[in-house]
Amino acid sequence: MGKAGVGLLTAVGFLFFSCGLNQSSTTEIPPQKLETVKQIGETASTTLLKRLKKELKTALTSQGPVGAIETCSKKALTITKEVAQEVKGVKEIKRTSFKYRNPLNKPDQYEAEALKFFEESMKKTGKLPPYYVQKVNGEYRYYKPLKVMPVCLICHGDPQKMNPAVVKKLKELYPEDKAVGYKEGDFRGGIRVSIPEEVVEKSSN
Ligand code: HEC
Repeated sequence: MGKAGVGLLTAVGFLFFSCGLNQSSTTEIPPQKLETVKQIGETASTTLLKRLKKELKTALTSQGPVGAIETCSKKALTITKEVAQEVKGVKEIKRTSFKYRNPLNKPDQYEAEALKFFEESMKKTGKLPPYYVQKVNGEYRYYKPLKVMPVCLICHGDPQKMNPAVVKKLKELYPEDKAVGYKEGDFRGGIRVSIPEEVVEKSSN
């Protein structure tokens, strides 16, 4: 392990990864591998975020909030798949949250572990750590946490204060919607980027 690697590990501080089934361990991921996972994970998640924000902005200005809901619900998953295909080394990307709107975004047990990590760090320190990395079933998973910004409240805020037409549209499309009641600054959920173990092995030598 080089000096840079040691520094990185110290700076990062929180590296947990679960090996295999239900146990999660605090075993550290070797620094070169972590660097590769971080690089690919950051590229993929920031590309996705930029793409989604641009799409949201265009939809809000050209169609207003109700139309933008339709656009989000039709395009978000497609855009997510596209970015996963475009960014080298990525197998899959998913957006997930404990309070999900789209049932397809419901967290699996490993995602739940990552979300919990962010949620608890937020409770303890008032801040979100920049990422979380896991090793699960032959892949590395990089998670980027998401915060609620003012624009998000149009569709994820307090239903009492939201545009009634928006509330109505959301009820129609997502009768079991859990993704409301947020305030600015809240932890909203995360982006999970899956990177196969072989990719990390090859790029880390
Ligand atoms: C115009 C309405 C609208 C706005 C504004 C909006 N969202 Fe959403 N959001 C949706 C819809 C509709 C879905 C469900 C469809 C999908 O994306 O899978 C969703 C889903 C999500 C998901 C995936 C998890 C889930 O609940 O299904 C996340 C994460 C998310 N939004 C975060 C945000 C953030 C962060 C912002 C602010 C930057 C934001 N949203 C702004 C409508 C909106």
